[in-house]
Amino acid sequence: MTLMHIVPGLDEEASEKAIAILQNRLSHEQEAALVLKHAHWNVTGPDFIAVHEMLDPQVAEVLAQADETAERIATLGGSPLGRADDVVASRTWKRFALSGRKSTKEYLQALIEYYNDMIADDRNAIAQLDNLDIVSSNIIQDHVQQLEKFQWFMRSHLE
Ligand SMILES: [Fe+2]
Repeated sequence: MTLMHIVPGLDEEASEKAIAILQNRLSHEQEAALVLKHAHWNVTGPDFIAVHEMLDPQVAEVLAQADETAERIATLGGSPLGRADDVVASRTWKRFALSGRKSTKEYLQALIEYYNDMIADDRNAIAQLDNLDIVSSNIIQDHVQQLEKFQWFMRSHLE
């Protein structure tokens, strides 16, 4: 890729590697917003309203995370890829397969599994970014902290 510019103190190779890692996280964050909204619309059961309403703030948070990640890519001189096709092309994690009107329990179990992959991938990204660009690492550290909290909300709902 051709970078528009290089942040002072970073070299081109480190910037390019950091951008590639951030692009993968951007696509995951964008997809998470779709998956969470899909669950928000399709959950059913006696605790419908609790789960339905729990999910919307998570949608807002992962969309805010995607914006922050995309803008970090631009800050590093790259071009964030944000189209639906880019999300699918970037997917290195398990596809969210659950569809249709299903119980809150089924959706929460599927979402907890989805977050398992997303959290592990964020933590792996952080370990790599620590050696490339500590500022980008710090951004993803903030993001994974929120995801771990959201996963705790979901687990607590099932206990
Ligand atoms: Fe809604």
